[in-house]
Amino acid sequence: MLIAALALALAALAGLPWWLPGRIVALRVRLFNRINGDEGIPVPGDLVGVDRFREVYSHPAAGGRSRGAALSDLFWYWLSPGPEMHQEHLEAGERYDAVARTTRRLLAVPRVRAEELTRRCAARALTGLRGPVRLRDVMMPLWAEFAYELVFAEPCPREARDLITGNADDVVSSLKCTGLRHMKRRLRLTRYLLGRLSQVRVPLPDGLTPLEQAYYLQGAFFNTAVVQLSEAMAHLLMVLARHPAAQQEARTGDDRHLDHVIDETLRLYPLFGIAHRITTAGIPLGEHDTIPAGSVLCFDYPAFHRAGFDDPDRFDPSRFDGPSRELNHIPFGVAANRPCPAWRLAPIAMRTAAREVLRRYVLDTSATHTRSLPNRGPCLLTPVGEPRRVRAALALMRVRDRWEDVWRSLVQLVLGTYMVWDARRRRLCHRHFHDLAENRDARRVP
Ligand code: HEM
Repeated sequence: MLIAALALALAALAGLPWWLPGRIVALRVRLFNRINGDEGIPVPGDLVGVDRFREVYSHPAAGGRSRGAALSDLFWYWLSPGPEMHQEHLEAGERYDAVARTTRRLLAVPRVRAEELTRRCAARALTGLRGPVRLRDVMMPLWAEFAYELVFAEPCPREARDLITGNADDVVSSLKCTGLRHMKRRLRLTRYLLGRLSQVRVPLPDGLTPLEQAYYLQGAFFNTAVVQLSEAMAHLLMVLARHPAAQQEARTGDDRHLDHVIDETLRLYPLFGIAHRITTAGIPLGEHDTIPAGSVLCFDYPAFHRAGFDDPDRFDPSRFDGPSRELNHIPFGVAANRPCPAWRLAPIAMRTAAREVLRRYVLDTSATHTRSLPNRGPCLLTPVGEPRRVRAALALMRVRDRWEDVWRSLVQLVLGTYMVWDARRRRLCHRHFHDLAENRDARRVP
């Protein structure tokens, strides 16, 4: 009897990795929705189908960025300090135009120079690497140095690299609820940037205080650029590690093929789950329906990227062999509504970094690969030309990854619930716009 009970308990315990993480993720989503309320209109959804996704996203009235959405309080919390100066969160207007212009100038790097810079940064980041790694951790110092040189036009000192990776890792870990935010760590980078503003290689936007300029740089280049490129590369290398034939073809094939692998990776694993906009006026949908002003539209990238493709979960770069304009594929957003300013540079840098990795290593993995990539992409790197003895290591990786999933999903539930609650309590975005309105009113009072 005791033995049977023990065996049953052991079997239940051994089965945990197969059912517990999924249930906890579902519980977390339910809790988040409860705390956040259901203010958002999902697109595609009942009101706006896939067929009108681009049209509504591109509509001039789908232009509000932060003000008026409870969801913004959460993003401002995760992306602090200075979220009010992040390009992504600035409302349309003179400040936004000045900031966006500066970003475009900093990103306007000729292709050959971007490739050379990526190669140099990759060589440093990959030196001495072999065996088990987490791809996101490998990639972060590479893109930290890359972003630094884009901004300051000189090689990145060790101190700056560590501050940038410390900041970016903290942001992305809190976004994924695998860690809390550490403001002291992030503010160390702000202070460093404040001391270097005069060395930025293009003039910074007029009319911003030095602190605002530092926040702007930190947001666009040392959060967004580093986090997005590291995540995108971790996804790309995970895909190649899981598809050995595609990996071999990418190693020996031409740039066009590798570009299609990147396109398909970003289709399957878009970096944005949801991008939200607040409508500044009504959007007519037909004779009877209108999306009212002040609505929060939640554009669901993964849902859009799955629609209209045969067997959408299958990895198949050949989907991009033909013309791609009509495909439901917007990895860098939509051209008419604040698309990613790095839409040209990012694929060039990713392709070059992928070539540098593939030239040096054969990649293997047995870890799970999901869009949010909370495991940071466990992978085995075997130097090209060396015998690949990976069976035991892959078996170990599989077991560890499944058990980590159990522990991590519990951590995410607890930390995520706390952060959502804390963000709702602080209401950073709401307070910012409230204070702005008050000051304006105060100025109007004689
Ligand atoms: C593969 C890498 C990247 C992907 C897939 C990506 C994707 C995106 C997407 C989908 C958007 C639009 C979201 C929306 O409509 O709200 C966006 C916006 C943005 N991205 Fe990227 N991004 C990448 C890399 C970068 C890099 C390297 C930078 C460097 C500065 C950057 C800076 C920005 C900024 C500043 C915005 C806000 C644009 C605005 O509101 O004016 N991104 N990105």
